Amino acid sequence: MGTKKTVLLGVSLSTAASLALIALGCANAGDSSGSADGGATATASRAQLMERARPIFGTLATEATSAANPITEAKVDLGRMLYYDARLSKSQEISCNSCHQLDGFGVDGEPTSPGHKGQRGGRNSPTVYNAAFHLAQFWDGRAPDVEEQAKGPVLNPIEMAMPSEEATVALLKSIPGYAPLFAEAFPNQPDPITYDNMARAIGAFERKLVTPGRFDAFLAGDEGALSDTEVAGLELFMQAGCISCHVGPTVGGTLFQKLGLVKPYPTKDTGRFEVTGNEADRFVFKVPSLRNVARTAPYFHDGSIATLDDAIRTMGQYQLGRSFTDAETASIRAFLGSLTGDVDATYIARPTLPESGASTPGPDNS
Ligand code: HEC
Ligand code: HEC
Repeated sequence: MGTKKTVLLGVSLSTAASLALIALGCANAGDSSGSADGGATATASRAQLMERARPIFGTLATEATSAANPITEAKVDLGRMLYYDARLSKSQEISCNSCHQLDGFGVDGEPTSPGHKGQRGGRNSPTVYNAAFHLAQFWDGRAPDVEEQAKGPVLNPIEMAMPSEEATVALLKSIPGYAPLFAEAFPNQPDPITYDNMARAIGAFERKLVTPGRFDAFLAGDEGALSDTEVAGLELFMQAGCISCHVGPTVGGTLFQKLGLVKPYPTKDTGRFEVTGNEADRFVFKVPSLRNVARTAPYFHDGSIATLDDAIRTMGQYQLGRSFTDAETASIRAFLGSLTGDVDATYIARPTLPESGASTPGPDNS
């Protein structure tokens, strides 16, 4: 019921926002045609656009803080190692980084990802960049935060396929170099190597995977940060009602919404319905963040949409009941390109992992 209300609210907001913005857009067009100084007007309307965009998108923080899991350097350093450590998988070939490649904008470019013995699930791997800001994790939001999320893939039989939490902890304890690192990351704990602490360390590392870019510079007042086409695309993105769902600093990640809001979308995946069992949640998914979206193809929960243009057109048709011209699609694509951010190469550099000990088990390909 709660979700249904949100969906309906989304529509009315969308309509109201679109009308208001279209009205504003018209006023701007009128101004500029009557102006002798086109350059000055262009600057003025950029400034106005910035003013209108600011409350919609807000400011991207430098890290996604958590009272439950405060970020410390020791935790982050340990989390980075665990993120890259393929020994946390049954075959010892798969790490978090296999499906969420940090030097590839946090994805692997596959519609669905090969896990243990090449098995694939039904869903596309979303990017880990900026994910810690989302209202919940996974396409259906079934994990509340990145710490809870990180406990899933290690034990998932088609992902990293570890047999149990106990086996994972035993593996970590068998690697001598991890003991002092866990002790430093989780001080004053008698037995710091636990499954939950593994997830906390990974979560702390993910909380700083943030990619600010030109769009943030624009919102912060740098009018020249976006090109004319990108500015036009931002204007259309706002006018068309994309912002009724893709809002906030991560341009998404703040709401659950129905996929196929104005026209049923063909998919067997019922999304959030599987989590809540609530009829209103059928085909409801987390609205994904559009940060770095130009670099994270293929798209949608099942990776079935190959190009950004196709994703934009599909959104227009199924979420807004609107067909975009090729020029409109290209302009939105240009704006979305401005959401590609800067990855901190030092932060994501693959660390040297502690060596296995005498009792560390070897790979198991069964
Ligand atoms: C075999 C590929 C694979 C591996 C290995 C893997 N993931 Fe994922 N990850 C996925 C897929 C697929 C999803 C989406 C699943 C869904 O929504 O049901 C996902 C979702 C996520 C999300 C949610 C992002 C969002 O926007 O909702 C995060 C965060 C994440 N994974 C982090 C990790 C971490 C940390 C590890 C290592 C402990 C890991 N993943 C290992 C494939 C993988
Ligand atoms: C009513 C809510 C809603 C509106 C309006 C909306 N979207 Fe979406 N968008 C979603 C949802 C939900 C998904 C996830 C689809 C899925 O689960 O397969 C999505 C996915 C996307 C994706 C794919 C992202 C990825 O990583 O796979 C893009 C790109 C996108 N939207 C762009 C837009 C654009 C551009 C507009 C405006 C023309 C728009 N959206 C309007 C809800 C919305």
